[in-house]
Amino acid sequence: MTTLLNSLPRTDLNAKLDVAWVRSQFPSLSRTINGQTAAFLDGPGGTQVTQSVIDAIWYYLKTSNANTHGQYVTSRETDEIIASARSAMADFLGCVADEVVLGPNMTSLTFAISRSIGRELGPGDEILLTHLDHSANVSPWQALEERGVKIQFVDIRKGDCTLDMDDLARKLSSRTKVVAVGYASNAVGTINDVKTIIRIAHDAGAVAYVDAVHYAPHGVIDVRALDCDFLACSTYKFFGPHMGVLYGKREHLERLHPYKVRPNTNEVPGRWEMGTLNHECIAGITACVGYLAEIGSKAVSPTTDDQRPTTRLRRELLRTAYRAIQSHERELSLRMLRGLAEIPGLRLYGISDAKRVAERCPTFAIRIEGRHPAELSKQLGERGIFTWDGNYYALNLTERLGVEEDGGFLRIGFVHYNTEEEVDRVLGELRKLA
Ligand SMILES: Cc1ncc(COP(=O)(O)O)c(C=O)c1O
Repeated sequence: MTTLLNSLPRTDLNAKLDVAWVRSQFPSLSRTINGQTAAFLDGPGGTQVTQSVIDAIWYYLKTSNANTHGQYVTSRETDEIIASARSAMADFLGCVADEVVLGPNMTSLTFAISRSIGRELGPGDEILLTHLDHSANVSPWQALEERGVKIQFVDIRKGDCTLDMDDLARKLSSRTKVVAVGYASNAVGTINDVKTIIRIAHDAGAVAYVDAVHYAPHGVIDVRALDCDFLACSTYKFFGPHMGVLYGKREHLERLHPYKVRPNTNEVPGRWEMGTLNHECIAGITACVGYLAEIGSKAVSPTTDDQRPTTRLRRELLRTAYRAIQSHERELSLRMLRGLAEIPGLRLYGISDAKRVAERCPTFAIRIEGRHPAELSKQLGERGIFTWDGNYYALNLTERLGVEEDGGFLRIGFVHYNTEEEVDRVLGELRKLA
């Protein structure tokens, strides 16, 4: 690996995103609404997909559509496509392929793990959740209350919507068996110090379950460096198809008992995968990781289309890609923070200090005095700007901040295919609406 690293050009350190090339990869970005080019600021709810992802899904259905483990060519191709996607996601997460479980979405995968961990828990055991999390990392654990497990919640600091780490330390004890935490908030954009949280959880003897759904489009994930036990994400949040992916430490995937049908394999990771998977979308996963790796290869040295990145370098190219993505997204965040601060009657929930831009994703939850978030989102939608309103299943957070009864927030979310012009455009519309 050292040799591979040395072979990367030095420009890697200043990886730059080629935004024009990025946008050209997403056919939907040229869509118009009422005569205006659509601005997709709804990434936190699901991102757009590249032509390569669309092609991979189409090509699988056209040529290799079959079930797995058969004695004929399309079935063998299907097995290979699944193996490729697993290996692509292993590079994406920094693990090995048999630690990658594929499933319909993050929520189902989390229920599968919580149910199985729950088999070993009972009265006297505790699980620690947070008020910042999406319900997909809350309800599956809360369901274990029926086994007598006690659920505790880490509170937030309301001022900047960060986790109260003192509260976490207070509530963690030798009774805590699981700490479930989000890598980043899908509502207010806060990036949690998951590495520290995992270390503290381990010190108390608990396993750590990380929801990386919101973080995945914004930063590189390294499950080994984090030392997490489980980490779940959804590929439709990072430019791929509607699928969920779970990393589990091999020892856990082997030791825990999944709820499964008898003929299914007892080997990992297949024992955690229920029924027939969505093969066409799995074909799209490899293309989606390939697209991100290509950003990395363009960032280090602009290439022509026929010089696609090699598999050997994929993990390193992904790291580079995310450096380029992050530096572009931070520019967008700074511009947005400056603009939002100048709009009278507008309140931003979450980190607003430009000096702390690295602690947040470019996901902005706002309210404007006297205006209902749904009404704002509708009006922006009519102007071709797509945003979300409500709680986006971060229900504990909207309740904790006292906005649930009043429509939650208006959420404006940027990803790397968004531009400074789109930031200015949404700011301009918000100014008119305020
Ligand atoms: C932070 C976060 N976690 C979990 C989920 C649930 O993901 P899925 O739809 O794949 O179950 C979402 C979806 O919005 C999310 O934003």
